[in-house]
Amino acid sequence: MNEVLTYDDVLLVPQYSNIRSRKEIDISTDLRNNLKLDLPIISSPMDTITEDDMASSMFYAGGAGIIHRYNTIDEQAKLVTSAFRRGAMNVGAAIGITGDYVERSHAVLEHGASFICVDVAHGHHILMEKALAKLRFEFGDNLHIMAGNVVGLEGANDLADWGANSVRCNIGGGSICSTRIQTGHGLPGLQTIIDCAKTDRNIAVIADGGIKNSGDIVKALAAGADAVLIGSLLAATNATPGEIINQKGDKYKIYRGMASKEAQIDWKGDYSSFEGVSMFMPYRGNVTDILDDLERGIRSGFSYSGARTLKELRAKAKFVRQTVAGLSESGAHITTRKW
Ligand code: XMP
Repeated sequence: MNEVLTYDDVLLVPQYSNIRSRKEIDISTDLRNNLKLDLPIISSPMDTITEDDMASSMFYAGGAGIIHRYNTIDEQAKLVTSAFRRGAMNVGAAIGITGDYVERSHAVLEHGASFICVDVAHGHHILMEKALAKLRFEFGDNLHIMAGNVVGLEGANDLADWGANSVRCNIGGGSICSTRIQTGHGLPGLQTIIDCAKTDRNIAVIADGGIKNSGDIVKALAAGADAVLIGSLLAATNATPGEIINQKGDKYKIYRGMASKEAQIDWKGDYSSFEGVSMFMPYRGNVTDILDDLERGIRSGFSYSGARTLKELRAKAKFVRQTVAGLSESGAHITTRKW
């Protein structure tokens, strides 16, 4: 059996640096086919993460948001228009692989979406192949199509050959996922990036799910991701959909997996296999402050590897495995020390 790794298993070894200011560092990324970002962060197409508010906040921070597809075509088109009207030039919109996906794609693109994301849990699938062929036939080669999710090189290459420009990698690694428990399938998140980044196709690799902090973002980028796609890091903020819930003086917002029982019942009236959870998350305030902190952390991470660009980061990065003792030393550990 192969040994497979995830974010907490590794560290990047600090390198000699001649970077005097973090302003010298360029963290922009080219996701291929008309999609470039100044900040390599995309918000997840989930009903508790990305609607119009998040999509515009993401754009102004230099990233992009993907408006979820758990709504009617009209509702999604209105959300896209609302983000676009606020001046967000990069707005993604999610679609599925059956049913109304072609009509939905037409609607969101006509209302200002700049790219679409074919958003299914198991993307290395015959229905994905058919959907990508249909979408390319309808929209031609200039539309950026993101697709996923896959876990390995074969999946990434197939999606590329079927028409995707960027591929979401990782299955079951997200903070609200229970796919690996329910089905026994998945692959640790960082490993999916290491494997998918071996592709010789001209696609961007998107690290999706399980990213807990800016350090994990730097590790994903150094391992070959072109951007990260995040949910929990942006959850329960002012820009997420849903009400603030007050309980005993504390504020919360709901964050839930799209395959959770609760989400399925809301959108389909019933549930099949549930592969996610729903939770109350303590309210975390303004998303722009969170994105600013993430950006500062990423710039600092590049600086520790002596890298001015993403390309340099990949060339200079030296990963090492850490032990459990190393991992506990890596966090602030004064609270668990015995005095
Ligand atoms: P984070 O860790 O950023 O993960 O909160 C967000 C990603 O998780 C995926 N996702 C799911 N995966 N069951 C799953 O197995 C679910 O119910 C579910 N909902 C979201 C998705 O890739 C998202 O970007």
